[in-house]
Amino acid sequence: MIDDDKFIIETQSLSRHFGTTQAVESLDLTVREGEIFGLVGPDGAGKTTTIRLLAGLLNITSGSATVAGFDLQRQAEAIKPRIGYMAQQFSLYGDLSVEENLAFFADIYRVSGEERQQRTERLLQFAQLTEFKQRRAVHLSGGMQKKLALACTLIHQPQVLLLDEPTTGVDPVSRREFWDILAELHHDGTTILISTPYMDEAERCQRVGLLYEGRLMMCDQPRRIREMTAGELVEFHVEDWQRTQRILAGLDGVLEVQTYGNVMRIFLDSADKRLPSLEAALRAKKIPYRGLRRKLAGMEEAFVSLIRSVED
Ligand SMILES: Nc1ncnc2c1ncn2[C@@H]1O[C@H](COP(=O)(O)OP(=O)(O)OP(=O)(O)O)[C@@H](O)[C@H]1O
Ligand SMILES: [Mg+2]
Repeated sequence: MIDDDKFIIETQSLSRHFGTTQAVESLDLTVREGEIFGLVGPDGAGKTTTIRLLAGLLNITSGSATVAGFDLQRQAEAIKPRIGYMAQQFSLYGDLSVEENLAFFADIYRVSGEERQQRTERLLQFAQLTEFKQRRAVHLSGGMQKKLALACTLIHQPQVLLLDEPTTGVDPVSRREFWDILAELHHDGTTILISTPYMDEAERCQRVGLLYEGRLMMCDQPRRIREMTAGELVEFHVEDWQRTQRILAGLDGVLEVQTYGNVMRIFLDSADKRLPSLEAALRAKKIPYRGLRRKLAGMEEAFVSLIRSVED
């Protein structure tokens, strides 16, 4: 359950610079207790830096933050046992078995006795790794490795999970299984801050923040973000997207042209009204196109639109 008034993560003008790079700049971010909060943004936007700051692994350049009620700068040691951090390049011990990896993390967090045994068993079940518990981590599939890493992150029952692209590079089925685990954790009240390059994952978050060049450009519910784009969207494939873009950008009623490889996504003030002239223009310029269809705008289009408006 989400308590609307209770922020478990709260940052004020949080900044972290590396030399002249403003990796995170004046970040005001709030995450509610029990929320699944998604962090998205292009490469180098500052997602990892934000998460590492919140995990107490990087010094703050300026600003402040509280996590689980403790001040990040003054009380970092009190925060650490309350959070579970899964790094973007997380490391398991390949030579150790599934069970031994969990034991290693149990040692670090001083989880012992009966509690240790119970949690280990539960986490193995939870991650569907019980039957592989003696397999060396290096011999697990990519998806299983991620689930084991998550299980290791959970051994001390953290209140807040900080997950940095935990599913990147994993097949869709494993990603879904990973999210099933997150849904259960969410149900049990764990707060989850997760960065992801996948829009379907961002859709599963209660709120999503878009980082760009270290700044939080937008922060809202997925539904509200989708609604931010203006006009009606049509999509089709072409070979020469650059030429197509130039031609379509000048047509009446075209609000915006977005390209995703050879996929064109065009925002029109009215699809009914403008589609005939759009197709006529493509034919007149002898541009072959295929797969023309209307599409509902998603978060990805909203983000691209927003980032472009800043870059222009
Ligand atoms: N230790 C470091 N030293 C110098 N520059 C750094 C360091 N860590 C990050 N940066 C820079 O800070 C910026 C933000 O990097 P960060 O890793 O936080 O981005 P990101 O959003 O996680 O990107 P990605 O999607 O590639 O993981 C980048 O310009 C990066 O080069
Ligand atoms: Mg990163």
